[in-house]
Amino acid sequence: VYETRRDLARLFGIRDASRLVFTHNATEALNLAIKGALHMGDHVVTSSMEHNAVWRCLRVLEAEGLISVTPVRCAPDGSLDVQDIVSALRPNTRLMVFTHASNVTGTLMPIGELGQIARERGVILLVDAAQTAGVYPVDVEGLSVDLLAFTGHKGLLGPQGTGGLYIREGINLRPLKEGGTGSESTLEHQPFTLPDRYEAGTLNVPGIAGLGAAVRFILDEGLERIREREVLLTGEVLEGLSQIPAIRVYGPQDARRQVGVVSIGVQGVRPGEVAYVLDEVYSINVRAGLHCSPCAHRTIGTLDQGTLRISLGYFNSREHVEDLVGALGEIAAG
Ligand SMILES: Cc1ncc(COP(=O)(O)O)c(C=O)c1O
Repeated sequence: VYETRRDLARLFGIRDASRLVFTHNATEALNLAIKGALHMGDHVVTSSMEHNAVWRCLRVLEAEGLISVTPVRCAPDGSLDVQDIVSALRPNTRLMVFTHASNVTGTLMPIGELGQIARERGVILLVDAAQTAGVYPVDVEGLSVDLLAFTGHKGLLGPQGTGGLYIREGINLRPLKEGGTGSESTLEHQPFTLPDRYEAGTLNVPGIAGLGAAVRFILDEGLERIREREVLLTGEVLEGLSQIPAIRVYGPQDARRQVGVVSIGVQGVRPGEVAYVLDEVYSINVRAGLHCSPCAHRTIGTLDQGTLRISLGYFNSREHVEDLVGALGEIAAG
């Protein structure tokens, strides 16, 4: 656990590793950050591209009358205009929450600029790095990120049931749960020291050990190399699909402005059917539907059917891309 914490801190540019606490997934980290930071009467600014892990968490607090929320609408390619964020801020805005990259379109958000705005206005910036951790550089100091939520089982290549939250020094969150920490056991209240304050109960130690091995692999390979490979493969997918008239690609359609996620629609065939044929006939796995982000689909105009989402990773090859584009060409041709 100690080594995994230390290596994750290195990956995210966190100076004091004890500020990184383990959770069971990104959802738990986001709940801890949002529910722990907000108080009665606070206002939150977010985007229309968020995952339900953020969206539902904010909506429940809003429905209870505790907070108000302004979701800023993104462009149809999922991109965010920072001026719209500035306009949405109010004197009682306490938190800004943004995904680092959309899990539907792959669109990268301007986290650096958002960090500057948050710093100038004294607003806490929470970044959902579920789609970027392990595949895109995340430097919490350089980006002025106050809270960073991540999951272990995606780009970090770790096991399911792992994740965590970075909490900048000076930010005191209300814990989501209290209990045993194996430390300061005579205290009747939860210790104030980190990471113990937010790690009540037995940790997923086997999962965290597996995550540690994955993070060491990433550090050894080098994040730049991983990112460059994903840019190359994403660019090739985009190029290949642009030659198929019956395929519509959503998102920025520019490999440098997105992570290795490409959402598409095939004219006349439902995304679920395309996914089924890709799996059964071509042994290619993709995901179809809403990807737990209905508001993102409302933004890009695909709420009725969702999209077919292609996810590219470090272990994919150019042959995989060729096979995928070829298969989609055949399916699109009927
Ligand atoms: C952008 C984003 N946020 C949050 C989550 C939730 O992650 P987890 O399943 O680890 O809770 C996901 C998972 O799909 C995601 O893509």
